[in-house]
Amino acid sequence: MNVLVTGATGFVGSHVVDVLLERGHTVSYIARSTSNLRWLADKPATRVDGSLFDKESLRAAVERADIIIHVAGLTAAKNEAEFRRGNTEATQNLIDAARAYRPGLVRFVHISSLAVSGPSPNLANPVTEDSPYNPITSYGRTKQLAELAVLEATEIPFTIIRPPAVYGPRDSAIYTFFQTVNKGLATFIGFDQKRLSLVHVRDLARGIVDAAFSPKTIGETYFISSDEFYTWREIAELTGTILERQRLLRIRLPHTLVLGIAGIAGFVGRISGKPSVLDYEKGVDIIQSFWTCSTEKARADFGYRQEISLEEGLRDTIRWYKEQKWL
Ligand SMILES: NC(=O)c1ccc[n+]([C@@H]2O[C@H](COP(=O)([O-])OP(=O)(O)OC[C@H]3O[C@@H](n4cnc5c(N)ncnc54)[C@H](OP(=O)(O)O)[C@@H]3O)[C@@H](O)[C@H]2O)c1
Repeated sequence: MNVLVTGATGFVGSHVVDVLLERGHTVSYIARSTSNLRWLADKPATRVDGSLFDKESLRAAVERADIIIHVAGLTAAKNEAEFRRGNTEATQNLIDAARAYRPGLVRFVHISSLAVSGPSPNLANPVTEDSPYNPITSYGRTKQLAELAVLEATEIPFTIIRPPAVYGPRDSAIYTFFQTVNKGLATFIGFDQKRLSLVHVRDLARGIVDAAFSPKTIGETYFISSDEFYTWREIAELTGTILERQRLLRIRLPHTLVLGIAGIAGFVGRISGKPSVLDYEKGVDIIQSFWTCSTEKARADFGYRQEISLEEGLRDTIRWYKEQKWL
């Protein structure tokens, strides 16, 4: 099968490309003039020059594709308008191109996010695919609008995948956490025991490709995640053990302090005109108690299961950071 991957130069997309190539598929990807090709170097995948805002390049990219896996998106932006452009309008452009230039497309897989469902109310009730939309950030709202654009394209055989937080080799977002633990510090938000779903990028990439090729998943939405929910404490302790940090200095930050720092960081970010690592919305996001989702539907429909345990995943990630001299 000819598979077009958007966002292939990024963290998740590059792993999706790896899984597709390992399974013998023909892969093409869209890259911008500014794209960094470091994760795709020497791989037998075909580059299509362009962007999700360049109609001619979209035509060239989609007309040869049997399957489109749309991973591209913005996880950080200066404001909601920028998120809307990168997540919602970009998705609409790709759908329009698929409609216009690739009738008979076999599958359109859209990568969404747990952010569209929002946090779960308690530990006993992780969100499911039937939970209502409840995004609490502009990122989540624009990913919801992107999902709605996909759902409206009823003539396209689509599948929507919602990952929770993703970690693994090539990630530079959760990487900051590893750097902190490597310095012997474990920072926790609030005084409650927060739980989260967290997926290793290889489990996610395998799940995305399995879903793309399963006939049962057409028109459906799935969470692809860890089967277990973790506390930041167990993640930090395991990370500290693997990094051979005998004693971690544990610091708990009250929610009010987190929101205060986040507000100031966001304000500085707005003045500098760059997306900030932390802003008020991200502060609201990280103080939530339960970012948990159920994998039951993916398990039932196409046999998804978490293959990489937290310990294996953390070891793999740390090994990679060390090889790259990031740690
Ligand atoms: N990472 C997570 O924890 C997480 C969790 C849930 C959902 N997701 C979703 O997973 C997807 C990938 O996330 P990621 O962490 O892999 O992000 P990433 O590393 O920042 O990669 C984003 C990718 O999207 C591409 N892209 C963005 N705008 C584009 C445009 N206008 N035209 C063409 N390509 C464009 C980027 O290309 P360039 O190289 O040219 O910039 C890059 O390849 C996103 O849709 C995100 O919402 C991620």
